Amino acid sequence: MPAPPRARVVATRRLPAPVVSELRASFELVLHDRVEAPPRDDVLASAAGADALLTVPTDRVDAELLDAAGGRLRVIAQYGVGHDNVDLAAATARGVVVTNTPDVLTGATAELTIALLLALARRVAEGDRLVRRGDPWSLSPTFLLGTGLAGRTLGVVGWGRIGREVGRLAAAHGMRVVHASRSSGIPLDRLLADADAVSLHTPLTPETRHLLGEEALARMRPGALLVNTSRGAVVDEQALVRALLAGRLAGAALDVFEDEPDVHPELRRLENVVLTPHIASATHEAREAMGMLCVEALRDALFERTVPRHALNPVAWSRADA
Ligand code: DGY
Repeated sequence: MPAPPRARVVATRRLPAPVVSELRASFELVLHDRVEAPPRDDVLASAAGADALLTVPTDRVDAELLDAAGGRLRVIAQYGVGHDNVDLAAATARGVVVTNTPDVLTGATAELTIALLLALARRVAEGDRLVRRGDPWSLSPTFLLGTGLAGRTLGVVGWGRIGREVGRLAAAHGMRVVHASRSSGIPLDRLLADADAVSLHTPLTPETRHLLGEEALARMRPGALLVNTSRGAVVDEQALVRALLAGRLAGAALDVFEDEPDVHPELRRLENVVLTPHIASATHEAREAMGMLCVEALRDALFERTVPRHALNPVAWSRADA
């Protein structure tokens, strides 16, 4: 007797080798094996007839993609914790469960946040560019001075797992940490006025889109630093550029952008801006653990026929079974 067909999983990006092995052991894997985003039409075409999709936070997971996949689709495993790219209502309406990968990337994301804060405060990227350009330099008491972190106030906006871990690491650097969130901490306006550096850790929602716009940026303490490892659109990039050009902020470090992978040309030009290409969770350890959580979610949904542990819309499961 021929073996029964295996569930078909379509993954939109290159994946760590151990994750690919696990997926191949259990499923028929269709892999867009490249680092860059595949053309949308390719994703739509490959999704047809899939039982599951494995997506990343910059894929648009909307009604068009769900419909292109069709009626077999049961689960979407998102390789990341943020899921503002996913139309959860559209997935739920079609009985498709969506999962994400919390916890395992908290440490990596918090570490990169502190790395960016240090890079900005101590002008690491600026010094690196200067040396690479071959500019003349010499050790001198007034050359390329930065600011220490100890004794400064860090304002953490969003007090979930990652925000709290950033707070813990910042405190270990001698910083005073205050936070603002929907349910605890101090009012955002007070945080912006008090903090020497502000770090963003909110999900992107209609309420947090452009949370740091013209007005909020104007409320920040003159000479403050801004770090964003959450989502680009939490900051109004155009307003940020104006604040930086006017010298109201001393600098910004950004891992995420409003229109990734495009970056505002002024941000790329400014010396007091540190830019990284959305790598906050990009450690071998975190990315492998995230992948294994995706594998677990796919096996739960497609083999065990149970709601995966990190389902964002568990109600979709009962809908599919109805
Ligand atoms: C996430 O998990 O949401 C990150 O932005 C991607 O690693």
